[in-house]
Amino acid sequence: MTAPQRVLVTGGAGFIGSSVVRHLLADSQAKVLNFDSLTYAANLKSLESCSNDARYRFQRGDIRDLAAVKEAFRSFRPTHVLHLAAESHVDRSLTGPQAFIETNVVGTGIMLQAARDYFDSLSGEEKSAFRFLHVSTDEVFGSLEDDGMFTPTTPYDPSSPYSASKAASDHLVRAWGRSFGLPILITNCSNNYGPCQFPEKLIPLMILNAKEGIALPVYGKGDNVRDWLYVEDHARAIWSVAQKGRLGATYLIGGEEERTNLSVVHTICDILDEEVPHADIKDRKSLVEFVTDRPGHDFRYAIDCSATQKELGWSPLESFETGLRRTILWYLNNDPWLESIRSGSYRAWMEENYAWR
Ligand code: NAD
Ligand code: TYD
Repeated sequence: MTAPQRVLVTGGAGFIGSSVVRHLLADSQAKVLNFDSLTYAANLKSLESCSNDARYRFQRGDIRDLAAVKEAFRSFRPTHVLHLAAESHVDRSLTGPQAFIETNVVGTGIMLQAARDYFDSLSGEEKSAFRFLHVSTDEVFGSLEDDGMFTPTTPYDPSSPYSASKAASDHLVRAWGRSFGLPILITNCSNNYGPCQFPEKLIPLMILNAKEGIALPVYGKGDNVRDWLYVEDHARAIWSVAQKGRLGATYLIGGEEERTNLSVVHTICDILDEEVPHADIKDRKSLVEFVTDRPGHDFRYAIDCSATQKELGWSPLESFETGLRRTILWYLNNDPWLESIRSGSYRAWMEENYAWR
């Protein structure tokens, strides 16, 4: 009998990380260590269903803290590292880019340093089984016009401090693979949506504003295009790449569900009008306000993930229509989760920093 897999997940209290942790506990036998510093974006309520599972452990720690990261490796002895911890919001990277350099670039450098030391200390089966998977974004490839799609060979061309910091971290990860033989994998994924996403991102922000009947700030003309993937489909893809991916390879992950921002917002309004009609507002689409565009706003992202689908046998299970309705119903039915982030500090940050709106 082979020993159980031990998966070190960084950023496991965030939106995608918590979905990955829930997936590992539900659909594998792996032991999971969630290593997360609990920034504003974290919410341990997303992991309530895991907290009593004997295979799950949470450790509060910062990926910029080499001693803490090394200790996590030493005590947990992971077979796999799924590195998701990051500053993840483009708008925040425009108002405070330094945190993105520190966490996404320096923090990833520290993860790699600790992973290399640990990997070098292994031998035999433990060594050949070890994998370091870096979870990245399609935003590293920059912006597309109306046609074309990102492929694994698309050159990097990031626009925002967020995407530049993720591009830098991808390069570091690849370099540790080539120079030091660290068994790395990289995934670049399109925009995720689903339960437990912090409501600064488009979909949860629009759901909550529209529910309350307050303005829906759409940047520019709302004609920017994103490809949307349901978060649980992403979590399955990450674990599939970690187990079956070729060493050193890059896997593109997408939902094949391109939509303009305005059409996403309109669909949210229609579903809410149907599910929870507003006493005074007949058609929530009337709440849309076109606001000053985001600086450096990438026009379109689209992913050709056929190679990933063919090689790994993975494909998204959720369509955008079914996934969006599930997501909306989740936000309508999870007030306790929302209460923890409706703090004064988050509101104050929004008011101070969204100067271009
Ligand atoms: P998130 O902002 O919801 O969560 C990030 C998590 O990382 C939080 O729990 C936070 O506490 C933790 N964290 C931040 N800094 C840390 C530090 N210094 N040390 C330890 N923990 C720290 O992010 P998300 O949307 O779940 O994204 C997760 C990963 O997936 C990121 O690397 C992001 O770049 C990537 N990604 C996100 C999307 C998307 O649509 N959200 C798409 C593709 C890739
Ligand atoms: P976002 O969820 O921030 O993800 P990303 O910038 O990583 O793609 O934004 C998705 C799209 O929605 C993006 O084109 C910017 C736009 N957007 C708005 O129009 N209004 C908003 O209030 C937000 C947060 C985003």
